[in-house]
Amino acid sequence: MKIIVGITGGIAAYKAPELVRLLKKAGHEVRCAATEHALEFVTRVTLETVSGAPLYSDLFASGRTEHISLKDWGEMLVVAPATANIIGKVASGIADDALSTLLLAFSGKPVVMAPAMNCEMWAHPAVQRNVETLKSWGIRMVGPAEGELACGVSGVGRMAEPQQIVDAIGEGATLKLNGERWLVTAGPTYERIDSVRFIGNYSSGKMGFALAEALAGAGAKVELVTGPTSLNAANPHIHLIRVESAREMYAAATEVFPRCHGAILSAAVADYRPAECADHKLKKNGSEGMTLELVQNPDILATLGGMKHEGQTLVGFALETDNEEANAQRKLEKKNLDYIVLNSLRDKGAGFGVDTNKVYIIGRDGSCTESPLLSKQEVAQLIINTVTT
Ligand code: CTP
Repeated sequence: MKIIVGITGGIAAYKAPELVRLLKKAGHEVRCAATEHALEFVTRVTLETVSGAPLYSDLFASGRTEHISLKDWGEMLVVAPATANIIGKVASGIADDALSTLLLAFSGKPVVMAPAMNCEMWAHPAVQRNVETLKSWGIRMVGPAEGELACGVSGVGRMAEPQQIVDAIGEGATLKLNGERWLVTAGPTYERIDSVRFIGNYSSGKMGFALAEALAGAGAKVELVTGPTSLNAANPHIHLIRVESAREMYAAATEVFPRCHGAILSAAVADYRPAECADHKLKKNGSEGMTLELVQNPDILATLGGMKHEGQTLVGFALETDNEEANAQRKLEKKNLDYIVLNSLRDKGAGFGVDTNKVYIIGRDGSCTESPLLSKQEVAQLIINTVTT
């Protein structure tokens, strides 16, 4: 793989030549890009000698657009060490030197960072917020580790060892869903009664967004069709399609599905909608009660099950309160699914509006993977690992 090693100005920069050497030994082609401050810690001659290529450190050298040609050349950018400064710059979109400009231009390709700084700096809310921002864009963090720091104190802030960074890059190089497109549905649907009222449910969309993040993290491009939710997807590989009703979700999902390798339908779709939607606010009609006539919505999951062709994977969710496994198994067969993820409302901490979930992933082949109570992110990862092997 063609890897660019970006070096910023921290004491751990002295380990960068060793990282370059290990990467080359592992068979990668390496070029280096450094900030001005990095060159206070490690010399140009060292970096050019170990990489066997000219160092990129001057944005204005000979008036070339090196950051663009280097971006075209590189397949992965590894920033080691990554100071609080470079993390903050990327999070804010600042490009004021060779490396930060390259980092912004590199959007859409895999970036790995190995942060290194004093432990108080690492713990600062601004740094933590910036790290979270970068992670939500798909940038992977390796470390920092806990240990003795250059300033004499002990804490979290040491750069991961070069070999650990090389191992992490190896995992990234085999992103298993690279080149694949997946569809995810998320959130509730709202079914309009009149111009100001609707029928909805308590789904937050968190499970579907976590699934989309996990798929994008494994290298897939994701079409995320979501009902009304306050959540946002920052990862550039997630294409967000916001809809309101079941019929809008149906239209978006059936349009996208033929181009996808698989689909995971986690939305809490309203089974019924009002037969009519008034274009004005309905007034009380003087009587004690009111009867609303409902008609059935199209079943998106069953429709995709009918459309599914060889090689596509279809995963549904089932929320059951009794006869859980038998009902889920029945749904799996009836809707032509490959997997069904069962949420049992008997399990505490599972289901709507909570940050945790506990699931049973039942396969067409009769396999059943049971999770402990996990965060929705961990459940998403388990689902992706199970349905994409
Ligand atoms: N689903 C869908 N379209 C619908 C209803 C449900 O795509 N109109 C999907 C959900 O996203 C979920 C799965 O179907 O993946 C299970 O939904 P659920 O409501 O539990 O199942 P139903 O088939 O509607 O069965 P029942 O309500 O009888 O339990």
